[in-house]
Amino acid sequence: MVPIVRGEGAWLLDADGRRYLDGISSWWTNLFGHANPRIANALADQARTLEHVIFAGFTHEPAIELAEELVRITPPGLDRVFYADNGSAAIEVALKMSFHYWLNQGHGEKTRFIALSGSYHGETLGALSVSDVALYRKTYAPLLLTPFLTPSPDSYEGEPGESPQQVAARRLLELRSLLERHAHETCAVIVEPLVQCAGGMRMYHPDYLTGLRALCNEFSVHFIADEIAVGFGRSGTLFACEQAAVSPDFMCLSKGLTAGFLALSVVLTHAAIYEAFYAEYNAGKAFLHSHSYTGNPLACRVALETLAIFREEPVLERNRALAAHLARRLAPLREHPHVADVRQTGMIAAVELVADKASRRPFPTAERRGLRVYLHGLQQGVLLRPLGNVVYFMPPYVVNEQEIDLLVDTALTGIELAVAD
Ligand SMILES: Cc1ncc(COP(=O)(O)O)c(C=O)c1O
Repeated sequence: MVPIVRGEGAWLLDADGRRYLDGISSWWTNLFGHANPRIANALADQARTLEHVIFAGFTHEPAIELAEELVRITPPGLDRVFYADNGSAAIEVALKMSFHYWLNQGHGEKTRFIALSGSYHGETLGALSVSDVALYRKTYAPLLLTPFLTPSPDSYEGEPGESPQQVAARRLLELRSLLERHAHETCAVIVEPLVQCAGGMRMYHPDYLTGLRALCNEFSVHFIADEIAVGFGRSGTLFACEQAAVSPDFMCLSKGLTAGFLALSVVLTHAAIYEAFYAEYNAGKAFLHSHSYTGNPLACRVALETLAIFREEPVLERNRALAAHLARRLAPLREHPHVADVRQTGMIAAVELVADKASRRPFPTAERRGLRVYLHGLQQGVLLRPLGNVVYFMPPYVVNEQEIDLLVDTALTGIELAVAD
């Protein structure tokens, strides 16, 4: 364990005064730097005013303002906001709300969900149920719901010569076939828009989301967009769904929502879904899902300050320049004999290490090649945390070009150590 005592910008400082450049934004949460003074001040102000209050029958200004602001900036039609307190909890809410909507509409036969192969949506039982990363799921499989899995539109898994767009089109046909057989018993399709993060930063073409929206309409199933990791500018746009110009039925947000300061999540949905729960009390249609810290005022205030930074500073524009620099620096790796793919979506870049480039044969997982990159990074004062054989970069948005150079140079030397016998 590395005992961290301070954070400053993109850097973490340990108890011995060693510095680590946070190349993964502390699990993809941090946007504007550790201990960002502007956000810290907003948090301190709120702590002196109202730290928490029950969020049932009571409300407060930060939660109201934040809901209004989220409705304003998310894709059209998402105009109702439900608060929870972490990413997995938001997924639970979306799954339950989708099921419950259909139940309230007289469709209690809809009890199943469709998820993409290689997906990750969290580790509580419902979220883990719709995840397909064996490392996290396998042990608990006997406890979980069994979703229908449809093949991911992941471009890396395409046939030789197939474009990302063609992969997306082919995978949509497979999804259509699944829906033809099972839509009548399916509540929703859940996806991580554009990038399947924990599954190895696998990326796909926005056409898949456009096609998914059309299929969900055609077959009367909900579209749940889990933007917990890709939301708030990570994908290059404020929300990944924007790149396909789609509005999902449920959008789950967390992580960057508070710029990495506090645990908070929301599920946005549209009025038609809200209306299905809004009835006279004894009708028993209400959606019951509460957490002690639902809508915590400190977290809402921090989220408001985060969104103020997006409004007042050219964040996405700055990120475009940083992303272009990262792409330039990573490009030479395409020629590396043990690199099968270098891919990037906005401020997420990944390098796929393989045992054999021609056949794309992976290194056996048990060899833990990525761990060598991690350990090398720590020695060099850089936090990189590969997912298996995938070395990725997801720095805070306050990183500068020199810091990106340090990340990439450290990864390059780490990769040489990782692929050596
Ligand atoms: C896409 C996605 N969904 C859900 C989660 C779960 O969020 P949390 O870790 O806050 O429970 C994560 C976490 O990494 C994620 O990447």
